[in-house]
Amino acid sequence: MSNHLKQVGRWTLSLVFGAWLLLGSAGAAERPQVVILATGGTIAGQQKKPGEAGYTAGQLAVDAILAAVPELHTVAQVSGEQIASIGSQDMNDQVWLRLLRRINELVNDQAVGGVVVTHGTDTIEETAFFLDLTVARNKPVVLVGAMRPATAAGADGPLNLLNAVRIAAAPESRGRGVLVALNEEIHSAREVTKTNTTEVQTFRSPNAGPVGLFTAGHLRYVRAPLGGGRPHFVLGGRADLPLVEIVYAHANMQAGLVEASARLGARGLVLAGVGNGNMSRGAMDALAALAKQGTVVVRSSRVGSGWVSRNVEVDDDTLGFVASQDLNPQKARILLQLALTQTSDPARVQAVFDPANR
Ligand code: SIN
Repeated sequence: MSNHLKQVGRWTLSLVFGAWLLLGSAGAAERPQVVILATGGTIAGQQKKPGEAGYTAGQLAVDAILAAVPELHTVAQVSGEQIASIGSQDMNDQVWLRLLRRINELVNDQAVGGVVVTHGTDTIEETAFFLDLTVARNKPVVLVGAMRPATAAGADGPLNLLNAVRIAAAPESRGRGVLVALNEEIHSAREVTKTNTTEVQTFRSPNAGPVGLFTAGHLRYVRAPLGGGRPHFVLGGRADLPLVEIVYAHANMQAGLVEASARLGARGLVLAGVGNGNMSRGAMDALAALAKQGTVVVRSSRVGSGWVSRNVEVDDDTLGFVASQDLNPQKARILLQLALTQTSDPARVQAVFDPANR
């Protein structure tokens, strides 16, 4: 090859390389920034021995979780931060408040397009709902977990995480409230619940179904979350939240646990009632006595779907109770905690729970 041809070849190569660099950096600038906040859970879980069922949640650091899914970088400019390394059975008000403060900083940062939170599945619906009620609005905040540990054959975490980042990066995810993404489905924080102890398809929104799904990698929203405007609470620098306990109704229910919860200092009680939020006569008398003394009593249901409405089987007006509407006991507990930061008047608490206020 002549020197001239070699020179032309070198120029051509440099031009192609320069163009690739330019396009590459322009592409990076176009990809939104998505910050991944890790809290632990099975998505960060490790088995002692591959192939065995036993594992410990919350073992892998965020960098290891991100490194397992290189495709993330084709969707967004991702970075990770470790907020906690716990199984979500140990999630508590203090971690929630820390997470909330960091998310509010991020959603108020113009450079950030969205936030993903990795979380254990056992209480993911609770953290999602807490954030839905408290995060400064509009930018996508997506919670994601996995049913199989990161080291398992067929781990579901990598695809779930990729989908969560796709959701957080998508402009059409704005204004939909906090979302939960697992197994190619997207659920609204208010509606979603865990329905199976071990299956990968465990998350469902029993009253209305998912708000969106992935088909062949494409994000599709199929409906808006139930209700209109949702209540919103500004918590500022609070260091804790009011104590609210849940009591579980069953055949032969006694009043003892109701009275014990009040002695523990609970400012509110949620009944996981039978059927339409019902309870034994003894428990009802004990709850009515507490309501008279100023403890706020919310009737929810252990059934798993449907609404608990006022004054149907139980005379809420006379007994001073609040009906949870579509909220299951664990979510009613959170809304009551937040409502109690503003009022302990049952009528005002009921207004926060009522559909007209959503
Ligand atoms: C947990 O909730 O931390 C353990 C279970 C899970 O993530 O699936």
